[in-house]
Amino acid sequence: MMLVTSLSGISEDGLNTLLDDAFGTDRHKRTAYLLRKGMTAIDHLSFAILDDGALVASIQCWPVRVDTVNIILVGPVAVATHCQNSGLGMQLMQLMLDAATPQDPPMVLIGDPEYYGRFGFSANDTSGWTLPGPWEPRRLLLRNAAMLELPVQAMLGPAD
Ligand SMILES: CC(C)(COP(=O)(O)OP(=O)(O)OC[C@H]1O[C@@H](n2cnc3c(N)ncnc32)[C@H](O)[C@@H]1OP(=O)(O)O)[C@@H](O)C(=O)NCCC(=O)NCCS
Repeated sequence: MMLVTSLSGISEDGLNTLLDDAFGTDRHKRTAYLLRKGMTAIDHLSFAILDDGALVASIQCWPVRVDTVNIILVGPVAVATHCQNSGLGMQLMQLMLDAATPQDPPMVLIGDPEYYGRFGFSANDTSGWTLPGPWEPRRLLLRNAAMLELPVQAMLGPAD
């Protein structure tokens, strides 16, 4: 039986095993990790899915900034390899978006536009942004539902 829960109740070891499975054990070198270095995940936007008690999918969100403006980093979105392509990734993204409040800042993620485009993420307004590590510009995606004014040329980093 599948159960959706807050990620805060999940053990660090269990989460690391899932993330190693989905992204590989060298995942810590990824630019997204540098981007949110030292930050704590945003509780109300971070979820887990358990299958008969076993962690099979997770989403985490983090406070970061673009220049001095607060923004939310979405990810990792991770689905255990044996459960991929059965709707869990989309379920997590929709849960997170439904949990977001009007007070929450715009969202950024590093991911494939072919997948995340369906949730309103696009690279259209991120071409002037710089990250603290390598990135593919086409995969730096923004979702700015409230159409807030954001810096055009700016560095992204942890929110401090
Ligand atoms: C990417 C990921 C979160 C998607 O979650 P999922 O539960 O496997 O996928 P879903 O069931 O939600 O969606 C499946 C659909 O998305 C498509 N899809 C999955 N990953 C995709 C990607 N990276 N790019 C484009 N389309 C993708 C599938 O082809 C499928 O399409 P269909 O419905 O037309 O058949 C998950 O596969 C995962 O954790 N992968 C490992 C980590 C990774 O590679 N992440 C890259 C994105 S940051």
